[in-house]
Amino acid sequence: MFLSKKEERILEGEEGEAARLAMRTIVKVGEALGASRLVEIEHAHVSGVSYLNIGDPGLEFIEHLANLDARIRVFGTINPLSFDLDSPHEFNITVEEYEKQLRIINALKKMGFNPTFTCTPYYIRKPSLGEHLAWGESSAVAYVNIVYGARTNKEGGPIALLSAIIGRIYYSGLHLTENRIPRVYFKTTFNTSNTVEAGLLGYIIGKLSKGRTAYLENNIQWKESWVKAYAAAIGTTSDNPLTIIENVSPETNLFNKEYIEDKITITREDLEEAYNELVDNSSQEQVVFFGCPHLGLEELRELVLTTKGYDKPIIVSTSRYIYAKAVEENLVKKLEEKGIKIIKDTCPIVSRLFKPNTTVKTNSTKASFYLKRLRKVKTILSDYGETGG
Ligand code: F3S
Repeated sequence: MFLSKKEERILEGEEGEAARLAMRTIVKVGEALGASRLVEIEHAHVSGVSYLNIGDPGLEFIEHLANLDARIRVFGTINPLSFDLDSPHEFNITVEEYEKQLRIINALKKMGFNPTFTCTPYYIRKPSLGEHLAWGESSAVAYVNIVYGARTNKEGGPIALLSAIIGRIYYSGLHLTENRIPRVYFKTTFNTSNTVEAGLLGYIIGKLSKGRTAYLENNIQWKESWVKAYAAAIGTTSDNPLTIIENVSPETNLFNKEYIEDKITITREDLEEAYNELVDNSSQEQVVFFGCPHLGLEELRELVLTTKGYDKPIIVSTSRYIYAKAVEENLVKKLEEKGIKIIKDTCPIVSRLFKPNTTVKTNSTKASFYLKRLRKVKTILSDYGETGG
């Protein structure tokens, strides 16, 4: 792999042991992927910071880097934790788990990461067209590729962390324009009309595109929440989460019919099949959940306007960044008055928010996919309007 003089100096350890280790790893992985060089990044987002997810090996890795005096060179954000920092006692964790989670946070903060604890870092720093990033968190990776035309592969948490330390990532995959050119063309026999349909569509297209960049014909304007649902879902079924969506994505100019290998039409029956794969309609919901990915202000405003009250508890999840803005707009008070509970910093997949065998009604295909597999929680998929909204 070609390295600049500066990159060679980092590799030789001139900028410290942590940077040397980070450069060595990124170069080795990049070489294995066939990358010809590195590319400078503007922002790294690290996933895998919940102690319940990464356990002692993850904690030791992060603390090891912090103890080597690692410092990040770019803007850095981090994914959700195993509890809300303002109400940890509600998340069924032990004192030891609590303390270890705090050690992870402190080590990341020492390296220079912003304590964001969210899967929606694009609300905190909006990427620009063509900008290179090293992000973990598949929903966010898909969202920024689709919506902003920013360039990041679906990186693992440790790789995103090491990239932050050297400010670079291997130049491969979606960093290259040639890999962003759509190879498979999708159209639907219906107009997407809610978050559940958008999520199911992402889930199906992720499967059918088989790692290729997709193009989605779409003649209506999508809401932000639909794109988030689509992006989160495609991240569950594809390693290449880029879909160029008409009326959404800035890179429609990359479409060239000469490169299209397959044309696929998705019908309502396909949505229904995917729905049945994910949900458990035989049980009755005990709780309603919105916020996978973390809700933005638009979605919180929509909930205030549409929620009429419900006979089951409703929990919504957001970042502390959006929460602070929602307090300023008086949205938190209005939601609480409707009996809605708002949690921050965490998510149901990396925490013990829901006990196994609980049935949760949600509008998130991604939550439905992982709650079933990782937390043994049953789900029913339903949109705002049908769920107390
Ligand atoms: Fe975010 Fe957790 Fe869903 S990290 S996208 S709320 S699985």
